[in-house]
Amino acid sequence: MIHKCLFPVAGYGTRFLPATKSMPKEMLPIINKPLIEYGVDEALQAGLNDICFITGRGKRALEDYFDINYELEDKIAGTDKEASLNGIRKIIHECTFSYTRQIEKRGLGHAILTGKTLIGKYPFAVVLADDLCINPTGDGVMTQMVALYKQFRCTIIAIEEVPQDQIHKYGVVAGEMMRNDIYRINTMIEKPSLEEAPSNLAIIGRYILTPDIFGILEDIEPDKNGELQLTDALMKQAQNGCVIAYKFKGKRFDCGNVKGFVEATNYCYSNVSAT
Ligand code: UTP
Repeated sequence: MIHKCLFPVAGYGTRFLPATKSMPKEMLPIINKPLIEYGVDEALQAGLNDICFITGRGKRALEDYFDINYELEDKIAGTDKEASLNGIRKIIHECTFSYTRQIEKRGLGHAILTGKTLIGKYPFAVVLADDLCINPTGDGVMTQMVALYKQFRCTIIAIEEVPQDQIHKYGVVAGEMMRNDIYRINTMIEKPSLEEAPSNLAIIGRYILTPDIFGILEDIEPDKNGELQLTDALMKQAQNGCVIAYKFKGKRFDCGNVKGFVEATNYCYSNVSAT
C-alpha cells in the first residue's frame, strides 16, 4: 500500500563540520554502518522498498553506497570479509533507488516538495536518517507507523516527550488524546520557546504523508529565513482534515549533533550488532 520512502539528505550538516565539509552527514558511521543504512533498513522492514533520495551537491557518496563496487567485491571474494557486505547487498537487491537534487537548501518542507516528481500521487513515508530509531523489543518505528496508517489513512507523525530545555529545538504538537500513545493534532509550533510550547511532545524524523502535502507546501509562505517549514504544512493538513501524532515504541538518538551521535554509538556498541 505504501511503497515509497523519501530520504531528504540535502542538508549541509554544519553541526558536524569539519567532517561534513566533503562528506554527507548521513554517511557518518555508527560503529561500521552509515546512518543512512539504518534508515533504509528500517524502511525496508516496513515494506518500503522504493527508496527516493533528495540529494544535493557533495552527496555522491550516497549514490555509490547503494550500488555494487565490483572491484572491491572481486578483491574480497572468498574471504571472511565478504559477509560484512551481506546487509547492504540485501538492501541493493531488494530496493530500487531514485535521486533528485534540491538545488537550493530551502528547508525540510522545500526538500520534501522537491520529491514531488519522485513520489507522485500516493501516500509516502519520510525518514530523516540523522534521527536513528531503534526498537530493541519489537517492530521498527516505520513498521509501527505503517500499521497505524492502515487504520487512520491520514498523515502520521512520530513524536516523543523531550525535556524542557530541548523543546526550543523541535516542532511541538498538542491535540486530542485518542489512545495513550495517539493524538489527533490541533496545534503545532515550530521551535517554540518554553512559554509558547503547547506540550512537551516533539516531532521527530519519521512521517507518513498523504500526497495533498505537496499542494500545501506549494502554497505556504517561507519563514523569515526563506525556508519552507514542514510544520506549517502539517498544521494546514491538520486544519483541513486529520493528522495523527504517534508516540512510538523504541529509542531515538539525534545523530545530527555530536552528543546524540556518541550516545547512539555507545548504545549500538553495547546492544546492537552493527553488521
Ligand atoms: P537539519 O535541520 O538536521 O539540517 O535537517 P542539516 O543541514 O542536515 O544539519 P545542520 O543543522 O546544518 O547541522 C534535517 C533533515 O532535513 C534535510 C537534512 O539533510 C536532514 O536530513 N534537509 C534539510 C534537506 O534535505 N534540505 C534542506 O534544505 C534542509
